[in-house]
Amino acid sequence: MSVPLLAATAAGIGALPEAGAAGFLDRLLPGDGPWELEIGFGKGRFLLASAAARPQTRWLGIEVAGEYFRLAAGRASRRRLANVALLRGEALYLLAAVLPAGFARRVHVYFPDPWPKARHLRRRLFSAASVDLLLAALAPGGELCFATDFLDYGHEVEAILRAAPGVAVERLAGGWPEGPRTNYEAKYEREGRPIVRLIARPEGAPSLHPDGAREVLVALCRPAAGEDAPA
Ligand SMILES: C[S@@+](CC[C@H](N)C(=O)[O-])C[C@H]1O[C@@H](n2cnc3c(N)ncnc32)[C@H](O)[C@@H]1O
Repeated sequence: MSVPLLAATAAGIGALPEAGAAGFLDRLLPGDGPWELEIGFGKGRFLLASAAARPQTRWLGIEVAGEYFRLAAGRASRRRLANVALLRGEALYLLAAVLPAGFARRVHVYFPDPWPKARHLRRRLFSAASVDLLLAALAPGGELCFATDFLDYGHEVEAILRAAPGVAVERLAGGWPEGPRTNYEAKYEREGRPIVRLIARPEGAPSLHPDGAREVLVALCRPAAGEDAPA
């Protein structure tokens, strides 16, 4: 069964317009404010509160669960948030096929599904193979903010980011300055669970993660000198 890509803005919910075409994001949400992206926004607490608090910033949310997408779209509409666009879809697909590189001042990923079973680890959003795609969404000088209560996942993401060339990684000693950002974070803080919070800042020219790039092989078939290439 194919699942259509849906976009929600102040104009309502509809099929994604001109996905992937140049300037498509600016047509989705016109303006000249910087973009921030949240992946897996759930019920939208952080995205919608941030959009209300910083109306000059354009906020893009990606959520794979249609139920949460519609819930947050309804809330954005009732709060008349004209600086929010939500996409229902799978984040890595949207980053690879639909969204431009280098558009976001910040990328936020909070409490991504941990997929703790060994046979499900490949479903995690963060891996050495996906980190280049996540970092490529950042504009120069941008930062990626991440949090999880799954400590092994948090430590793995920290190691992946620290191994990425030219990326400065900060592990926060406590919480965010303004307090918990998302519903999961508020709940886990109340329960006293330890949380890994990271901020990653790529510096200089982007470079591929060595563990992702190591999997790639190149074969070039050049005709020998004097030989014609086959028709
Ligand atoms: C554990 S919840 C956390 C929700 C919210 N970020 C919070 O901290 O309260 C993870 C969310 O990410 C969404 N999600 C998981 N994988 C995703 C993917 N590949 N692309 C987009 N959203 C995804 C899930 O549907 C879910 O809403």
